[in-house]
Amino acid sequence: MDRLSKLLRHPRILQTLPDEERSYVLARVKFRLAFRSDLLALEWDGEFAHFRRLYAEAYRYTELGQAVIWVAELVDAGLIGQLFVHLKSDRRELADGRTSAYIYGFRIRPAYQSKGIGTKLLQITENDLVQKGFKFVNLNVGQDNNRARQLYERLGYRVIGTDPGRWSYYDQHGRRQDVNEPAWRLQKEL
Ligand SMILES: CC(C)(COP(=O)(O)OP(=O)(O)OC[C@H]1O[C@@H](n2cnc3c(N)ncnc32)[C@H](O)[C@@H]1OP(=O)(O)O)[C@@H](O)C(=O)NCCC(=O)NCCS
Repeated sequence: MDRLSKLLRHPRILQTLPDEERSYVLARVKFRLAFRSDLLALEWDGEFAHFRRLYAEAYRYTELGQAVIWVAELVDAGLIGQLFVHLKSDRRELADGRTSAYIYGFRIRPAYQSKGIGTKLLQITENDLVQKGFKFVNLNVGQDNNRARQLYERLGYRVIGTDPGRWSYYDQHGRRQDVNEPAWRLQKEL
């Protein structure tokens, strides 16, 4: 195993890598659609276990052609990124199944952030939506999440409104969880 392959097993060291080694890391990331067998790994060692039912439901929608789940996978490290897309949802203003799609659950594991992986994951998602004939992509970003908002704006997303960000889900124990995350609504014309 070469030196960089060993480094990939120690994410803390990645924070200090110079640019050319970051490019090497990025080149070793595989972007692909999620398999059913990825569902547990999407929980990231338990951190997102509370979304277990949401992930399973999203996967069922992929089987119906109404959603897409993208993952970023790194040799030796497993899944390090995820991004969910609703192609068609009950909230037609977000995803109408034909012209507009909705991105959510976009995250890169902290040790692998700021290396261009999120940008590439988003671009791959957008290219796929263009291929599918979609014209607009919508997403919500927390009003306190300036860094993510800047990333989106750099990639051509514009604020088109706000969203109260109130929603509920059932966690892995079947308990209802209420979320309150006031958000900006962003949109990009593809
Ligand atoms: C938002 C998020 C998905 C972006 O993923 P990412 O992989 O960190 O994004 P990128 O690396 O493509 O870009 C992020 C930054 O890295 C910088 N960067 C990208 N490639 C780089 C490189 N080779 N060398 C140095 N910096 C680089 C970018 O300029 C960008 O700068 P910023 O810190 O000012 O934003 C990620 O930070 C994350 O998971 N955050 C927590 C969850 C979250 O907020 N999700 C969004 C919900 S709406």
